Amino acid sequence: MHQSFIIAIDGPAASGKGTLGRRLAQELGLPHLDTGLTYRAVAHALLTADEALDDEPTAIAAARRVDLRKLDRSVLSDHNIGSAASKVAAMSGVRKELVELQRQFAQTPPGAILDGRDIGTIVCPGAAVKFYVTASPQERARRRWNEIQLRGEDADFDDILADIAVRDARDMGRDDSPLKPAEDAHLLDTSQMDIETAFQQALRIVMQARTS
Ligand code: DC
Repeated sequence: MHQSFIIAIDGPAASGKGTLGRRLAQELGLPHLDTGLTYRAVAHALLTADEALDDEPTAIAAARRVDLRKLDRSVLSDHNIGSAASKVAAMSGVRKELVELQRQFAQTPPGAILDGRDIGTIVCPGAAVKFYVTASPQERARRRWNEIQLRGEDADFDDILADIAVRDARDMGRDDSPLKPAEDAHLLDTSQMDIETAFQQALRIVMQARTS
């Protein structure tokens, strides 16, 4: 393997990119960072302190305090924190801090797998392999709805679908680092594909890149 073998995975909310990242990390023995958790940690800090989500200096200060070792998925996976994170992520000052942290993680040998929105385009443009994972909004809303039901909570499918549309528009429409596929990304549409099939396809591509 190269000095630092980086795999970049981007895609919209609930596309399956996080699950794919974790599966690949397990298989390849590489560290994995879900970069969405870093934006969620900033949103969580602001929500907990009752601060406005568009207060950039306060958000930047919260971003400087993010510790990658302390990101707790069970706390941060909350749906409302995700929506707040999407707002916080539109601020360039916040992105600058978090991107620096993410790059340090990626560049530490033997490398890493990062998933997010701008990994292949901004954070690690030189990544050895890039994936853009997507699925229809209906399928993504269905997955989110299932997750919420499995946690024993209640949610309205149409509300989730509407929220996904708002999030897509915000993440794809922002000025700084909008969500889009890198030119050299492999596209994986998981609308009609289970995670195991997506994982096998991705693994084949990674193995080819490792030997070339
Ligand atoms: O992947 P997620 O749902 O945990 O991400 C939460 C929000 O964080 C998402 O709506 C946009 C933002 N985000 C980002 O702007 N850049 C990243 N690399 C990862 C997430």
